[in-house]
Amino acid sequence: MYNSKIIGLGKYLPENVVTNADLSKMMDTSDEWIQERTGIQERRWIPEGSEDTSAVMGAKAAKIAIERAGLTKDDIDFIVFATLSPDYYFPGCGVQIQDLLDMPTVGALDVRNQCSGFVYALSVADQFIKTGMYKNILVIGAEYHSNGLDKTTRGRGVTVIFGDGAGACVLSREEDTTKGILSTHLHSEGKYADKLIVASPSIAHWVPEILESTEEDISYFPYMDGTFVFKNAVVRFSEVIIEGLMKNNLTKKDIDLLIPHQANLRIAQFIQKKFGLSDDKVFNNIMKYGNTTAASVVIALTEAWEQGKIKEGDHIVLAAFGSGFTWASAVIKW
Ligand code: ACO
Repeated sequence: MYNSKIIGLGKYLPENVVTNADLSKMMDTSDEWIQERTGIQERRWIPEGSEDTSAVMGAKAAKIAIERAGLTKDDIDFIVFATLSPDYYFPGCGVQIQDLLDMPTVGALDVRNQCSGFVYALSVADQFIKTGMYKNILVIGAEYHSNGLDKTTRGRGVTVIFGDGAGACVLSREEDTTKGILSTHLHSEGKYADKLIVASPSIAHWVPEILESTEEDISYFPYMDGTFVFKNAVVRFSEVIIEGLMKNNLTKKDIDLLIPHQANLRIAQFIQKKFGLSDDKVFNNIMKYGNTTAASVVIALTEAWEQGKIKEGDHIVLAAFGSGFTWASAVIKW
């Protein structure tokens, strides 16, 4: 029996910064409204004409993670890619990574769990390593939201929160089972799928039907019942963090760094207050990047590590909640 541990982290954000002031030129919104409700000041959106996509950004982040792990692409045994904005309806982005990084014909798997996607993907990779099947797994979260958002006033309740970006880690075999990923906890509640959804195109409502629709059909834009999602998020975030701590006989005092999915700064602040954590024990970067869904936790983890906020032996807690509903946590001893 082995544990798995993160031995390399990387991130890639498109250079193009879109501020709240930029958004207020596209739709009826304001910097004041966005900052007050979400904490977001700016986000990155892939500019027109760029070659970046979820897979391409994921590959860029992955290259950095592999290099920082001190490995080469040929050392990677498996790929797990989390996204809700894949380049193609099918195949998934995982196989594109195999090609883009010119890797051997290793297996590749896509995870479709939206904001919990990275934590789910990490959990999948962790199981493959714990059983001894693979030694080094590339886990990627990437999102290209901006091209699929309604950039008119009609879409303002959703569009202002999302950003593009990618993060990646190399998860590797750890012989010491007191270190690395101690546990992961996964949940879902499908009855609320329609509370945060891109409903089409689906096989049941395919492209010609949308094009021929006489009424205005905007089911290809994300729909979110923001208040409902918010209320569920704060409850589920807390539950799944407590579940992780209890499983490992830890208390909130043992948390050295909490990295919540960057959905809304107000959600993170609520959780921080509930757990009585000081500012240095919660990492947030939503102010700069917005909500990058499956990429957000791994981008934040990478940035926290780059800023020297993670030390050997620290207890790091990752937690996420999003569309599905799905929610998840991971407790890591670094
Ligand atoms: N600018 C200005 N006004 C706006 C904007 C905007 N961008 N968006 C909405 N409004 C207006 C609404 O029209 C509404 O006006 P009304 O009262 O006249 O009808 C008012 O502001 C309040 O709207 P709400 O939707 O109730 O605003 P709320 O306080 O709920 O904030 C928000 C919206 C920020 C989206 C919040 O609900 C939220 O963060 N929800 C959770 C998001 C989340 O966690 N998502 C999960 C992850 S995402 C994933 O899994 C893909």
